[in-house]
Amino acid sequence: MPAKPATLCYFDGRFLPLCDVAVSPFDRGYNFGDGVYEMLRVYNGVPFALDEHVERLFRSAAGIDIRPRLSPRDYRDLIVALVERAGWADAAVYGQLTRGDAPRDHVWDENIAPIDFWTVKPLVSPKFGRTMISVPDERWSRCEIKAISLLPNVLAKQRARRVGADEALFVMPNGIATEGGACNLFAVKDGVLYTHPIGGKVLPGVTRAITLKICKKMGVPVVEEGRSLDFHRDADEVFVCSTTMEIQPLLQLDWRPIADARPGPMTMRLRQAFLDYVRQACGDAPPLAGEVDGADVGVETMARVG
Ligand SMILES: Cc1ncc(COP(=O)(O)O)c(C=O)c1O
Repeated sequence: MPAKPATLCYFDGRFLPLCDVAVSPFDRGYNFGDGVYEMLRVYNGVPFALDEHVERLFRSAAGIDIRPRLSPRDYRDLIVALVERAGWADAAVYGQLTRGDAPRDHVWDENIAPIDFWTVKPLVSPKFGRTMISVPDERWSRCEIKAISLLPNVLAKQRARRVGADEALFVMPNGIATEGGACNLFAVKDGVLYTHPIGGKVLPGVTRAITLKICKKMGVPVVEEGRSLDFHRDADEVFVCSTTMEIQPLLQLDWRPIADARPGPMTMRLRQAFLDYVRQACGDAPPLAGEVDGADVGVETMARVG
């Protein structure tokens, strides 16, 4: 059997096989979770929403006072080169930028050099439909920064997984639902789309921004205001979105079906419009998972988790 090709990555200025990377135990990402990251999709060999992801990387880095050594253009070239070399048509690119390597000290030397790590893996198609449990939002108040220190998200998602749900939904002490462990949240009520505004409690998701752009084009009224957990429970439709899951209907929240636990018409329209947007940007994108015959999926998923 031919040997499996080694996974390629870019680390600290060089392209090399993943197995040849040596990370210092004093990398501040490792010691303090001191860094930022990005995750982007590749469709048909083309990185999707590349500019938006690179722009957010720079905003996140600026948010914690990291000055990248590469320019935005360098990052775009790096990602394109990595994707080309890896050769997968449908893939996910993960990149992180840590503050650098230095003897452990909370305070950093202003001249420390940040360290890049970028890799790409073939993508497994996301499953159609999601279930969520609500959990207290115990995160910090700078959620607009895509920081690698994701402990509350990790714990919340693991808690969801342990009880058989796909995702955790963060709810603040005042009852307002913010976003998922790794996705943004939308509700539909009487033809109006509701989503929490971006800022300290919600990541400015690239998929969220594209969804809002599509809504504007389609004339869908949008209210960017926080709404309660109960509002979401009683909504006509709820959906979540992210780079890797795209737009997915929420079928169950805290073990109760949303509407009749079937994907709603607005969600399906926006999913289709999102797919069209991807096709325009990246050429002939594969169909979104569960695109056809969504009607029976709700029942199936409820049986699985119920
Ligand atoms: C907390 C959180 N919110 C929202 C998102 C969705 O962001 P994007 O659409 O840019 O993937 C993510 C993605 O990982 C996330 O971690």
